[in-house]
Amino acid sequence: IRRIGVLTSGGDAPGMNSAIRAIVRFGISKGIEIIGIERGYQGLIEGEFKVLSRDDVSEIVQKGGTILRTARSDEFREEEGQKKAIENMEKHGLDALIVIGGEGSLKGAYDLFKKGINVVGIPGSIDNDVWGTDFSIGFDTACNNVIDAINKIRDTAAAHERTFVIEVMGRECGFIAFTSGLVSGADIILIPEVPIDFPYITEKLRERQKRKKRHNIIVVAEGVGSAYFIGKQIEDKLGISTRIVVLGHIQRGGSPSVFDRNMATFMGVEAIKRLLNGEGGVMIGWQKNSPVPISLEEVSKYKKRVPPELYWEVECLW
Ligand code: F6P
Repeated sequence: IRRIGVLTSGGDAPGMNSAIRAIVRFGISKGIEIIGIERGYQGLIEGEFKVLSRDDVSEIVQKGGTILRTARSDEFREEEGQKKAIENMEKHGLDALIVIGGEGSLKGAYDLFKKGINVVGIPGSIDNDVWGTDFSIGFDTACNNVIDAINKIRDTAAAHERTFVIEVMGRECGFIAFTSGLVSGADIILIPEVPIDFPYITEKLRERQKRKKRHNIIVVAEGVGSAYFIGKQIEDKLGISTRIVVLGHIQRGGSPSVFDRNMATFMGVEAIKRLLNGEGGVMIGWQKNSPVPISLEEVSKYKKRVPPELYWEVECLW
């Protein structure tokens, strides 16, 4: 192997830059040329390639986003798009590819592997919805962003004795809501993995009223539905005034946490090591605080979601 391409795909996640930096510097130290592909799979199709030097990845570890930029490529989902991508890889003499991205992007990586491309994946998504890894890059930073916001919201909620419904990201996966709600002391947490009837919410809020609790923090995962809808129901049914905060893309930005930078760095190093060992077709997961290879086939077959029994076990804490 002489030349390895790297791309980031799907939603950006803080910490992706640490992985890119590790791939470039560790790769160069092993005599490999690293080619950065811009704008994810779309750049692979359109041939947006550039050689990355050690200096190109200077002063990027502290930055959120991804220096390679990213895209959600519809074209790559089609056979024709994948064919163009493979042709470009051949044209540029790429012997292997590292894909940093979430569920959909890693499925794309597996598609390429099945078509004969030597590819290794790295899980990068704030949603933490990638099977085979305890964490994906960006999740920790995103949760820190969420708890920061909840701390601030709590101040004003307490001052005005209000009920806040805070909507967080995660698509159909509830990890951001579950983890950040749990550690920020939210009073109700709603996630798509655990369908909850409205009477549960009214019951919880009534019981808190009895206990003289004057403000409430409800964290809802976007996969459950709109926070506005939930807030309206609470107003109509309980006559409690609510305020809605949709945290949105703030969750995805900012300087990555120590955890994300460290994990992403070792994932990047491991990706190069596996490719040099001739072990393509895997994703570098994170288990027991170490990088581990998981077959891309498994990763694309299974979904990672919050286990409902875990939710119910700790539900007594909120
Ligand atoms: O997958 C990451 C994520 O931030 C999801 O939590 C969210 O639903 C989605 O991306 C938003 O996508 P976009 O930035 O394309 O609107």
